[in-house]
Amino acid sequence: MRLKDKVAVITGGGSDIGLAITQAFASEGAIVVIAARNASRLNEVADAINAGGGRARAIPTDITNENQVRKMVAQALAEYGRIDILINNAGIAGPTARIVDMELDKWNEVLAVNLTGTLLCSREVLKDMMPRKSGNIINISSVGGQSGFPMRSPYCVSKMGVIAFTETMAIEAGEYNIRVNCISPAAVRGSRILNAASAKAKALGVDREEILTRLTRDFSLKRLIEPSEVAAAAVFLASDESSAITGHTLVVNCGLHISHY
Ligand SMILES: NC(=O)c1ccc[n+]([C@@H]2O[C@H](COP(=O)([O-])OP(=O)(O)OC[C@H]3O[C@@H](n4cnc5c(N)ncnc54)[C@H](OP(=O)(O)O)[C@@H]3O)[C@@H](O)[C@H]2O)c1
Repeated sequence: MRLKDKVAVITGGGSDIGLAITQAFASEGAIVVIAARNASRLNEVADAINAGGGRARAIPTDITNENQVRKMVAQALAEYGRIDILINNAGIAGPTARIVDMELDKWNEVLAVNLTGTLLCSREVLKDMMPRKSGNIINISSVGGQSGFPMRSPYCVSKMGVIAFTETMAIEAGEYNIRVNCISPAAVRGSRILNAASAKAKALGVDREEILTRLTRDFSLKRLIEPSEVAAAAVFLASDESSAITGHTLVVNCGLHISHY
């Protein structure tokens, strides 16, 4: 077991990529604290892990709310005594709209969840990690954090910001023996991609598989990424196997960008 008895806080740990990370961490021996807004979904996930012999705790939290983040971290510390790992996974896709038509509240909402939420969780967890001179933080960016995409400006801005935040935090926290890394996936199989593909298929009057084939055309492996493949990267970055790696963005993208040369 690569994460035996490590206490890991995973934001958005109740669905899709976050759920896969939660399950992988629990099966590697970690105590998982999952934080998101939907309490019943979180409780179901925690109950299933506990019933299967793992250790999980659900703490309903809106990561954009400073007080709720403080309470979530305080509760995790009260119950487990320390936080070894933070996975800043919670994020929203936000609007699909041109900059000229951008609605300010939608822009602000994306930055609040994807960027400010990452700051708030990291800040509170660092207060425990720094005095102990030990810790590991992993942020989830996106292919949208490495390149601009039309109609997706707040998402791309927030995810590029997550990479800049990772690099800055890695430099600040390094002398406290805290590693900070980032994972940048392309399209991952799950509700977000499948719903978007279904909507596009309906609009164009084609089959959803056709949309998925078009979507993965520029991926060397010609397929979507599985949530378990993002989770495997998170386990690696959280474990001692990556002990000299910090400030790094690990792309998990089935070879997007490298198929044309
Ligand atoms: N899916 C992809 O293809 C893909 C690709 C690259 C990167 N990513 C990134 O990977 C991460 C996970 O994506 P996903 O596809 O698994 O997304 P998802 O299925 O939409 O899940 C997002 C999670 O974030 C939580 N969340 C949203 N707003 C929150 C808030 N204010 N406070 C606390 N939790 C909040 C949601 O739970 P509640 O609604 O219960 O709060 C949910 O558990 C995101 O950061 C996403 O941008 C995804």
